[in-house]
Amino acid sequence: MRPTSPALVGALALTTAAAVLPLAASAPAAADGVIIGGQPVTVGDSPWVVAVASRGLFGDSRSGQYCGAVVVGRTKVVTAAHCMSREVLGMEGSSVPDLKVIAGRSDLGGDAGREIKVRKVAVNPDYDTATNAGDVAVLTLAQALPAGHVLPMAGKGSSAYEPGTEATVYGWGDTTGNSTYASRLHSANVRVLEDGVCEEAYPGTLDGRYEADSMVCAGRPGGGHDACQGDSGGPLVAHGRVIGLVSWGSGCGEAGRPGVYTRISSFADFVDEA
Ligand code: ARG
Repeated sequence: MRPTSPALVGALALTTAAAVLPLAASAPAAADGVIIGGQPVTVGDSPWVVAVASRGLFGDSRSGQYCGAVVVGRTKVVTAAHCMSREVLGMEGSSVPDLKVIAGRSDLGGDAGREIKVRKVAVNPDYDTATNAGDVAVLTLAQALPAGHVLPMAGKGSSAYEPGTEATVYGWGDTTGNSTYASRLHSANVRVLEDGVCEEAYPGTLDGRYEADSMVCAGRPGGGHDACQGDSGGPLVAHGRVIGLVSWGSGCGEAGRPGVYTRISSFADFVDEA
């Protein structure tokens, strides 16, 4: 299926992603800011946050950004598996001719930093589209980033996963729950929540099913601070390490509907070997 215009492709992709992880059905979150309940930040302060982009599929206005990602090695970037999917792209990520990672650009309307070609795409073979478990993919860059861009991954058993830990999520995604895509990078402060909160919120619906061994539950008990569409693949950071990747949730920032993140420590072997 060849879409007729880049704008349509973008709209189509986002609608489809929203169908997998429904947004349309729920009311827009009452957001006081951005990402949801966040604030603008710069990649100068967080150089490991990068954008995943295809100008061919998503247009030039926001540099073609459609997902987030995090730099875990000088040529290694981790994002969500669903960001490489046919549902989002209309083809496999490995088939997108102009798939790029954009580093050093806080404002997608500008041309700061650089756009680096993706040399290889490795999607977790165990990614389960029914539950959303294992939502991780590794992009190998054609050129190396400076060592200062690299953020280490939290290991299994890291105290950063303890409920109550303050964490920060980053992205260029929807800031209102109403398809208001940010031009500037934003971050929101959330907390790691007890697995039980997400087990109760997501016992297994069309949205997915919360699985504590491969996912992290984060947000605020009352909602209001969250990731949203377009933030997927971006990092959840605590104690100076990446602990999760934006994966899914019902709506954005709603009370009782926390964000669900890929538990990166559970996929260390896959990431190291990719
Ligand atoms: N699936 C979305 C994306 O592709 C991310 C959704 C995250 N939602 C949330 N409420 N935390 O960008």
